Amino acid sequence: MGSLRGADDVETIGEQFESRLFRKHYLIKGLLWAVLLYGSLVLSIIAYCNPALLPFNPLSYVFNIEVSPFFAFSQGSEYFPKPHGVRIVALVPFHYHERTAILDCYLQNNLVQNRGLLDQVVFIPQTDDAFSLQWLDALVQKTPEYAISVGEDDMDWKFTQANVLYVRIDGDVVFLEDHTIPTIVKTRLEDPDSLMISANVMSEGALSSLHSHHGVALPYLPELDEADQDPQTNGQSHSDWHASNLPLWNGPAAFVIEKEFRPPFQGHRWLPVAEEGLDRDPIASAMRRETGPSLQEWTVSAQHHYSFLDHLESNTLSRYKFPLWKNPPEAVSSTLGCFWGKDAAALRELYGQQTASEGLSTIWTASDGSHPNITIDGKGLASHYSAEMAVAGLDSTDLLERYHAYAQENVCRPTR
Ligand SMILES: *[C@@H]1O[C@H](CO)[C@@H](O)[C@H](O)[C@H]1NC(C)=O
Repeated sequence: MGSLRGADDVETIGEQFESRLFRKHYLIKGLLWAVLLYGSLVLSIIAYCNPALLPFNPLSYVFNIEVSPFFAFSQGSEYFPKPHGVRIVALVPFHYHERTAILDCYLQNNLVQNRGLLDQVVFIPQTDDAFSLQWLDALVQKTPEYAISVGEDDMDWKFTQANVLYVRIDGDVVFLEDHTIPTIVKTRLEDPDSLMISANVMSEGALSSLHSHHGVALPYLPELDEADQDPQTNGQSHSDWHASNLPLWNGPAAFVIEKEFRPPFQGHRWLPVAEEGLDRDPIASAMRRETGPSLQEWTVSAQHHYSFLDHLESNTLSRYKFPLWKNPPEAVSSTLGCFWGKDAAALRELYGQQTASEGLSTIWTASDGSHPNITIDGKGLASHYSAEMAVAGLDSTDLLERYHAYAQENVCRPTR
């Protein structure tokens, strides 16, 4: 209609004025959009290259990326340089060479010469097995930073020196994150009120219920029939640690893990279960059935380890994590902890009181009447292969081979 009007038409003049105003509007809007797009582009690049630089991950709004609230502390966190003037020594109680052979790869990566924090690693033999001791001798010969303690005491407390920082790692630890040792050392240095900083040891002590939550523990059941294991039928070789290559569990519909379940056969695997919520895996059965296993049984432990390897592959280890937990109400795992040499005497008392499956009590009173603080640093994970709970339990699974295969593929240095 506007084209029919003359230039002197009041309404036409108004329209021309409006259209000028519109053009100006579009110009400003366009500029704003350009700035916005450029900003998101920069953010996306930062988020993709180094997510730890941002307090949140903008990509997660676009793609379905799981963001842990503590992301900055775990994966992609900054390199923590070795503090000046502090000597850091690992104490490693040694039991089984098959397990310590896996830990060795992680320890190597934590040595000062490989940009780690450990100046020295001292193994403390806890076995009389001649072959294992020979193996340990040979291992120590190969690495100048490795030594064997002369004492036989579990902690070799006399060895400890006041101004040295100790990291006690059980020789049966079969997985550590790159930052697990740095984070407990850093927390120990920053927290003068704690006697010891324990790492986030998968499913041990006070963490057992946290790590049994739905979505952390995944539904897994043991394969029942050895015939199913034929590599030709399932295409999986024995040195593969990937959970994604496991076939789905296939067994009787009414199958449930009961108390004192016996291992089906040596070298058996645990397989993911398609249908959830039937309360027949060990953890669900332990929590919801009277006839279910106790949380200390090997079946519960097996499910925890298979769930852990599953999360390790799918990059969802953040589900296990939290920042710090000071004096949890239940006992703390004694598997991996950091302390000053000056506190060795107090820790000797504390370690002396623990019972095999319980860990370190946080309601313990020292002989001088004080109540020491123990803190769990939830940012760095460790997995402990502890098969002592039921003879022939965990050892009848292929878990150790899986941890070994993972380390060979991702952790061990090629020169060794
Ligand atoms: C434990 O921590 C509290 C608060 O952080 C502190 O006041 C107390 O002195 C600590 N206890 C010991 C024995 O260091």
